[in-house]
Amino acid sequence: MSATTTAVAAESLPFEEFRNAPDADLNARIEAVRRELGPSLLILGHHYQQDEVIRFADLRGDSLKLSQLAAASTDCRSIVFCGVHFMAETADILSRDEVAVYLPDMTAGCSMADMADLDSVEAAWADLAEVIDVEDVTPVTYINSTAELKAFCGRHGGIVCTSSNARQVLDWAFARRKRALFFPDQHLGRNTARAMGIPLDQMTVWDPRRELGGNSPKAVEQSRVILWRGHCSVHQMFKPAHVAQFRERDPEVRVLVHPECSMEVVDAADVVGSTEFILKTIEQAPAGSSWAVGTELHLVNRLAAAHPDKKVQFLSPMVCMCSTMYRIDLPHLAWCLENLSRGTPANRVSVPEDVKRWGRESLRRMLELK
Ligand code: 13P
Ligand code: SF4
Repeated sequence: MSATTTAVAAESLPFEEFRNAPDADLNARIEAVRRELGPSLLILGHHYQQDEVIRFADLRGDSLKLSQLAAASTDCRSIVFCGVHFMAETADILSRDEVAVYLPDMTAGCSMADMADLDSVEAAWADLAEVIDVEDVTPVTYINSTAELKAFCGRHGGIVCTSSNARQVLDWAFARRKRALFFPDQHLGRNTARAMGIPLDQMTVWDPRRELGGNSPKAVEQSRVILWRGHCSVHQMFKPAHVAQFRERDPEVRVLVHPECSMEVVDAADVVGSTEFILKTIEQAPAGSSWAVGTELHLVNRLAAAHPDKKVQFLSPMVCMCSTMYRIDLPHLAWCLENLSRGTPANRVSVPEDVKRWGRESLRRMLELK
């Protein structure tokens, strides 16, 4: 039941032709297809994309905004998604039936989304049912997950969240049921639940490789939030010591981090929020203010360049970039677009109908939240 993707058609242009083409050539070829296809083509881009690619996005956003844009798209017949696989799947679930969604490089996945699959979540659900009443548990999946997990949530009265609305989503969940199973990002789940006043001793971590997730039956019975043991490989690289170093160097600095960071980093920071929130916070900050930002490197560099009147710095001394987002580059975008214009489309992301139906249900519950 895994989400299928159409294979690259035999008659598609080979990627080799694009791999080493000069940037100027690739830019011109991308522009030519955009002109030719006009409004029937919608290019969506996540803020973590590299500059050379994001400049071609008709619309850009964080995960929530991009899913709203895909759901609201009216004119296009094709969406080319400059982001990662789960985002393209979400666009396929939410867009009109006649829209086809493409991902320029199928290897652009998300290591966090890969940390939970349907089999292990179904096994966890069955194990939990041995100890507690699962009718009293709302499954909540972060949008960074496969379409099958969104469908799982749809079938079990659950819901999707993004980093922009996790609090609202957990409020929704607790208004209905006593507990939540939150996957795959333990950090977003923990940070959000803590901000809602849920104490740590009412949360437990579920390790899918261990019996009962590595918990005693008592720990499961006592928990209100069961956190899947998953994380973002990019945001886990920010450490409390990085915050301390910045504060020592610059007492005026404001530390702004994404909620995929660990609880210790979030506790040490001044402001926490999703990608879109980070963007707005820097945009609205007064000239001369100083910021250390803990999120993906390309976005932070772009913010620094766009706001030379403010001091915007990257929180970690290491290079924390999303290497899978980075796989969408000019050669792959040009290759994908030219194949589309020639009628030999490649890399279509197509979610099977039954998965789509239930995935849409859990996404709809999220999108209807005010
Ligand atoms: P948002 O787009 O919700 O901020 O999430 C960040 C992220 O890691 C996307 O994969
Ligand atoms: Fe996944 Fe993290 Fe990359 Fe987002 S930044 S796509 S969560 S690995």
